[in-house]
Amino acid sequence: MGRRIAGIIARGGADVVLHDSNAELLEGAVAVASQMASESSTPGTVTSSTSLPEAVANSDFITEAIIEDLGAKQQLIAAISELTERAIIATNTSVLPITSIAEFATAPDRVVGTHWWNPPDLIPIVEVVRGEHTSTEVIDRTVALLEHLGKLAVRVERDVPGFVGNRLQHALWREAIALVADGVCDAETADLVCRNTIGLRLAQMGPIETADYVGLDLTRAIHEAVLPSLSTDTFANPILTTL
Ligand SMILES: NC(=O)c1ccc[n+]([C@@H]2O[C@H](COP(=O)([O-])OP(=O)(O)OC[C@H]3O[C@@H](n4cnc5c(N)ncnc54)[C@H](O)[C@@H]3O)[C@@H](O)[C@H]2O)c1
Repeated sequence: MGRRIAGIIARGGADVVLHDSNAELLEGAVAVASQMASESSTPGTVTSSTSLPEAVANSDFITEAIIEDLGAKQQLIAAISELTERAIIATNTSVLPITSIAEFATAPDRVVGTHWWNPPDLIPIVEVVRGEHTSTEVIDRTVALLEHLGKLAVRVERDVPGFVGNRLQHALWREAIALVADGVCDAETADLVCRNTIGLRLAQMGPIETADYVGLDLTRAIHEAVLPSLSTDTFANPILTTL
């Protein structure tokens, strides 16, 4: 995702330096980001560096988008925080706690979660996640930057795993997978029902708006009847490893 996020930022007019521990990937990453930047009449430059200190020097905003591994992210964020006294340090994670990622940073108040959705140039939302130590100024500046880039930035005020989007998404996936595992329907049926009912509606109307639309009394009656039988598994369904 990093190269496409870089492309969006350069398209917004800022100069971007890409860095990757695998130097062989940098040429292709610069090509993708530059192509995206060229869609703007006033793009920033796109360059790369194999040196982390060189890549982050003089930056106002640094974002990591490395593998989803807590230890690797902690190490990188700590290293970056040693190299900059003023930059915002954003971490692009799908589900990892921002507070844990910032645990070894010298300035955890400048570490903020930015959960972009893939592909980041097509999905408008970026969830801006407050870690336990993230300052309000850093949140505000990150939201302002993302809005300048044309993104729909939303604030997530508590650092819960999966933030908002992935919690909602995986609550649905858990139930879909459980229905298949329990033999209620086959996988095709679960997907077909989803795509042709709530899938059609969700793009226009969120779950809370829908609850209001159908009526909060009906919503309460449905919840009382159905919630006791929904999956409450706190582990990945074994079917995921047997298929
Ligand atoms: N792929 C998605 O759909 C998606 C969606 C939302 C968020 N994310 C999050 O974005 C992050 C990146 O995901 P991705 O799919 O682009 O991963 P990816 O594996 O495609 O890319 C990760 C890159 O990080 C580099 N890297 C690994 N360790 C490094 C280090 N210490 N220093 C510098 N570079 C390092 C790798 O060489 C690789 O090029 C993850 O945290 C992921 O959870 C991914």
